[in-house]
Amino acid sequence: MTRHFFEVDDLSRDELQQVLAYAADPYPSKVLDGLGMALLFEKPSARTRNSMEMAVVQLGGHPVTIRPDEVGLDTREPAEDVARTLACYHGAIGARVFEHSKIERMAAAVDVPVVNMLSDESHPLQALADILTMQQEFGDLGGKAVAYVGDANNVARSLAIACAMTDMEFRIASPAGYQFNDRDLDRIRANGREPMVTESATEAVAGAHVVYTDVWTSMGQEEETRQRLDAFAEFTIDAALMEGLESDGIFMHCLPAHPGEECTRDVLDGPQSRIWPQAQNRMHAARGLLVFLLGGA
Ligand code: CP
Repeated sequence: MTRHFFEVDDLSRDELQQVLAYAADPYPSKVLDGLGMALLFEKPSARTRNSMEMAVVQLGGHPVTIRPDEVGLDTREPAEDVARTLACYHGAIGARVFEHSKIERMAAAVDVPVVNMLSDESHPLQALADILTMQQEFGDLGGKAVAYVGDANNVARSLAIACAMTDMEFRIASPAGYQFNDRDLDRIRANGREPMVTESATEAVAGAHVVYTDVWTSMGQEEETRQRLDAFAEFTIDAALMEGLESDGIFMHCLPAHPGEECTRDVLDGPQSRIWPQAQNRMHAARGLLVFLLGGA
């Protein structure tokens, strides 16, 4: 049966650990030998595009990155037919889309793995890299606390699910109106953990091992920028907030960052920051996932 990857909990807990083990394997199976992988982007990307392309190369494959105007998902051609076309040539498809349902529709039309490279609902590839980075930092993650400060967006949702699946405590501090909806909370709870939801960044960070943030205005929300700057004004991660962490606590950010908004430059560049190992782990995590989805060992 073809396995797709829309959200982290499309994997079981054991499978997640398997993917992380594959990610650490310096000699992965060449599961894409002689095959292509189509990487379709409706939105810009630096990390996801480059990490996926290099993961495909490391697995013996050939990445083909496709811009939105080249295929016109649901404008030039239905998303299903785009997927069927790409599956004629490629061993796997990755898609970064606005509407999550587009990825599900593409996957339903083909029998090659379809990987979510970010949708309005989730960013599971990012969460895999985040968990890998935390494992490298702390080893066993059970009982560690992650404090996410900022918008309860796609990155936060996938991270919360990944934390639940690795027995970590997940806390989120967001202003009213920018918190998880009931559907997201139910999905996180279904993975066995109750997230702490608060409007106080200080409360969320107190005694945490990781503080994590993302931009306040995601791609597609640009018209809300002014309103969001006001709403999140008390949610900047600065040196004073960092003092609430455990003594070995770290700072993480999926990037790109907007220094001076969700975090200060000194925190981004400071000794507790792990943003560059985190970015590099995007490639290792992507490679581990592809080995798993394509049945490698
Ligand atoms: N974190 C992340 O997905 O980065 P890009 O948008 O640059 O791919």
